[in-house]
Amino acid sequence: MNIAEHSDPLNLFAIWMHQQVAATKNSHPSACVLSTQGLDGFPNARNVSLKSIESPYLIITGSTVSRKGKEINAHPKVALTFWWEETKRQVRIQGTTSIISEEDAHFFFNDRNYASKVVSTISKQGVPTKDVESLRVRFRESVKNQKPIEKPTHWSGWKIKPHRIEFLEFNASRFHNRVLYTLSEEGWDITQLQP
Ligand SMILES: Cc1cc2nc3c(=O)[nH]c(=O)nc-3n(C[C@H](O)[C@H](O)[C@H](O)COP(=O)(O)O)c2cc1C
Repeated sequence: MNIAEHSDPLNLFAIWMHQQVAATKNSHPSACVLSTQGLDGFPNARNVSLKSIESPYLIITGSTVSRKGKEINAHPKVALTFWWEETKRQVRIQGTTSIISEEDAHFFFNDRNYASKVVSTISKQGVPTKDVESLRVRFRESVKNQKPIEKPTHWSGWKIKPHRIEFLEFNASRFHNRVLYTLSEEGWDITQLQP
């Protein structure tokens, strides 16, 4: 099916993601760039892992008191950008975030590996430290202990409801194919863009 023939772009996104995961040896195949509006006005971007596609939402997770957490809280409009080398595709998504339920947050936290859970618990993400070595010692001890770990209250996730999704597929000819889906009252408007 052509890029411009899907009635729901989330379906096309899921197909592309599936094809990319099958094609890549990348250890973080769902990595994407999350862009937020910084509190100081500068755009801010970092990689995150897309955790799930739950139409009409995309789910990401992390600390709500981190820089990204504070920025999303102040400005819920964000962007996600994917570049997929093996399938030569880019997807740009702009959407509005809302916090996920506590139940879902527990689900995603429990899905994390033990060391990641320890880090989320002992480390205040993004806060400066003059003694990273003590934190490293605590980390090693906690990993050794293997005690059950409760989800910290500040660890959660966001569901992003896309309002615009642009698909770009590279062509060897350099005449790349760009299709923009925009959410309107009636549903998704589909626009072919010049490359
Ligand atoms: C491939 C990759 C995947 C990442 N996935 C996540 C993620 O899912 N959630 C997260 O909070 N940070 C993730 N990070 C770390 C972030 O890039 C970032 O360092 C962290 O979230 C702090 O960002 P902030 O200070 O803007 O809040 C990932 C980094 C990389 C390189």
